[in-house]
Amino acid sequence: MLCVLGILKVKGQDTSGIYHEQYRPQIHFSPKAHWTNDPNGMVYFKGIYHLFFQYYPNGTTWGPMHWGHAESRDMIRWKEMPIALYPDSLGYIFSGSAVVDSNNNSGFGKDGKIPLVAIFTHHDPKGEKAGTNNFQNESLAYSLDNGTTWTKYYSNPVLKNPGIRDFRDPKVMWYKPGKKWVMTLATQDHITFFSSPNLKDWQKESEFGKTLGAHGGVWECPDLFPLKLNGKTYWVLIVNLNPGGPNGGSATQYFIGQFNGNKFIPTDDKIRWVDYGPDEYAGITWSNTGNRRIFLGWMSNWQYANQVPTVKWRNAMTIPRLLKLKVANGDTLLASEPVKEMDNIAAKPYAVKLTGNTHLPKQFVLKISLEHIKTYSLEFTNNEGEKLIVGYDKTTNRYFIDRSKSGKTDFNPAFAKIAYAPRLTAESASELKLVVDASSIEFFADDGLTVMTSTFFPKATFDHMVIKTEDKSVIKNAEVIPLKSIW
Ligand code: FRU
Repeated sequence: MLCVLGILKVKGQDTSGIYHEQYRPQIHFSPKAHWTNDPNGMVYFKGIYHLFFQYYPNGTTWGPMHWGHAESRDMIRWKEMPIALYPDSLGYIFSGSAVVDSNNNSGFGKDGKIPLVAIFTHHDPKGEKAGTNNFQNESLAYSLDNGTTWTKYYSNPVLKNPGIRDFRDPKVMWYKPGKKWVMTLATQDHITFFSSPNLKDWQKESEFGKTLGAHGGVWECPDLFPLKLNGKTYWVLIVNLNPGGPNGGSATQYFIGQFNGNKFIPTDDKIRWVDYGPDEYAGITWSNTGNRRIFLGWMSNWQYANQVPTVKWRNAMTIPRLLKLKVANGDTLLASEPVKEMDNIAAKPYAVKLTGNTHLPKQFVLKISLEHIKTYSLEFTNNEGEKLIVGYDKTTNRYFIDRSKSGKTDFNPAFAKIAYAPRLTAESASELKLVVDASSIEFFADDGLTVMTSTFFPKATFDHMVIKTEDKSVIKNAEVIPLKSIW
C-alpha cells in the first residue's frame, strides 16, 4: 500500500486533491483534468443523463477536439467516463447532438438493441489551413451499449458541406407529425434545416435568420424544440452567437415562433437572450426528456476561456435549467430555473440577516422574495478585501453583476466588467434565486425571466454577505440553502 502511494506521488497524481483545487466548482460538472467547452450529445436514456462535452485531453487550452463523456442519474452528481469520440482522418470532433433511435431508422440497431446515434461535425484542420470552404461536414457515430462505446459510421460524412466555412453543430430531433428526423444546423450567419428518414440521407428544407436576430458574430450551436403555454404549442429556436452577446463575447439568443417540419416562422423580430451574463455559452437542451425541456450551457466566454486562472482543468458547465414559456409585459418569453434535482444536494436552510453580515457556506442557493422591488444590492465579501456585488437598479430597471473587484481579473481586459440585464416584468413583487459555487454565480430573477451567469476567481471563498437597500421592509423572505459538494 505504502509503495502504491509512493508511486502515485512520484507521478504527481495526488488524488486526494482532485476536484478540490482552488476555484474548482463543487456543484457543477467540470472535467477531472484538461480543457472543456460546449456540452454535446446530451441525451437521456434508461435512467441516465448523458453529457458529452468538447474536450482536449492533452492540455488546458483549446486543442484537437474529442467528445468527453459523463453520466448522471440526476444531472447534478456526475461520473466522468472514458472519452467517447476521438479525432480521425476526417478531422476533429466538433459539437453536435445525440438521439435515441427507438425505431432503428438508422439500421445501426442489432439484436433488438436500441442505438444511440450521435450526429456531430467533423472539422478538418488541414482543409481549414489550406483555406478551403468545405472543411466542416456532419458525421454519425452510434452506441449499442447505452453510450459507453461508440462506433463511427463507415460512410461518414453523411451531410457534405456545400462551401460554407462555418457549417456545424447539428442538433437533431424526431419530428413526429412528419415522421422524419430534423437537423438544425448553424451555417455561418443563419440556420439551415435539413430532414432525413434514416439519419444518413439528408435533404435541405429551408433557411432562417440572415436578417433576423443578433448578428455580432458567427451563429453556432442551435437547438429547436416545442414548448407549451396555456395549451398552445410554440417552437423555440436557440442560436448561440460568438461574439455579439449583450455583455460582450459569446452568448445565447433565442426566437419564438412556429415550425411545420419545413420552415421556422418567428412571431416577431425581437432579439431575446436566454442568459444575459458573460458566462453562459453554447447552451442547448437534452433530448428524450419527455415534456421537460432541460438546458445546459458552457460556463465561460470565448473572450477569455483559454486564460481563466485554473491549473488542472479549464471551464465547467452551468447548472441544468428547466425551460418554460411565460408571458411578461405582453411578450412571450423563455424563462429558466435550476432543476429540482438540486434538492438532492441541499442541506438545512437558514435565514439571511437583514442587518449585518450573514455567514455563507462554500456553495449554496440564496433565495430572496421582495414584496415591492426597490434598488438593492447584495455584497459578497471575503477576508482578502475582495467582493462580488449583484443587485437591481430601479432608475435604469436593470439587474447587474459587478465582478470588477472579485479577485483575479487581470488575465484578460474584458473580464473585470459589470454585466447588466433588463428586468422584463412590470410586476411589483420579485423573486431572486442565486446559485453560487466556488467560482461562479447564476442569477435567476423574476422566476427566471432574467438570467445572468458570471464566473469569478477570488483568493478565498466569499463567506459573508450584506444586503443593502433603502427599505428592508420590502424583503419578505431571505434564506440560504447550503449545498453539499457533488465530488
Ligand atoms: C462553440 C464552438 C462550436 C464548435 C466548437 C469547437 O463554442 O465554436 O461552434 O463546434 O465550439 O470546439
